[in-house]
Amino acid sequence: MTRRKLAAGNWKMNGLRTALAEIEALRDAFPDPGCDVLICPPATLLAQSALAAAGSSIRLGGQDCHVAASGAHTGDISAAMLSDSGATHVILGHSERRADHGESSALVARKTEAAWAAGLTAIICVGETEAERDAGRTLDIVTTQVIESVPDGAIALTTVVAYEPVWAIGTGRTPTNAEIEEVHTAIRGALASRFSTDVAEGIRILYGGSVKPGNAAEIFALRDVDGGLVGGASLKASDFAGIIRAAE
Ligand code: G3H
Repeated sequence: MTRRKLAAGNWKMNGLRTALAEIEALRDAFPDPGCDVLICPPATLLAQSALAAAGSSIRLGGQDCHVAASGAHTGDISAAMLSDSGATHVILGHSERRADHGESSALVARKTEAAWAAGLTAIICVGETEAERDAGRTLDIVTTQVIESVPDGAIALTTVVAYEPVWAIGTGRTPTNAEIEEVHTAIRGALASRFSTDVAEGIRILYGGSVKPGNAAEIFALRDVDGGLVGGASLKASDFAGIIRAAE
């Protein structure tokens, strides 16, 4: 099965209105990209980002959502609100949310169901800490997170998995190519056992963690790697352009 690659940028808690120029630059540079392109700006910029990307194939995503569609949850944002602001995707279970907000895989699964109910595609993040890797527990940790975070009913259209080793995020360190392939193959195997081979073959599995223009092509060429979830190198259009080109 051919899976179209996805270059996804996660701006995290970065970006004021001046950053909209980066989306405009990508829009102008990639009128017809040979891969899917997604930017996940902070929620404060989502609606304006949708305007900046209008007329292009750049898609926009949120970085989290609440499990409820609306209600008394001060400071939270629902999946419907993301959709209403122009998002088609939402990142869920990023390790920074698992660490900073104590999010469990069970909660991530509920958030994924909320995202689907609002018509969003969920990008479900998994990944081991450095201590877990050193203890030889990487495959066990990651496949367990996949099994517990991806709810029943997952299909390729609505589900993306992102493998992000916690120790590789923002550090300039990456696993070896063989290590990335080993984990991605294990994730696809876990999806096959949880759902079916057909479903597993369709779901895109992104790699995230210190992806740069200089290493993206090599990483994206690996077996079972269907693109990247990129943090720091997605903030500037000039950097992210190199990553998009590597995914095309
Ligand atoms: O969501 C993105 C990842 O956390 C990767 O961040 O590219 O800055 O290492 P990074």
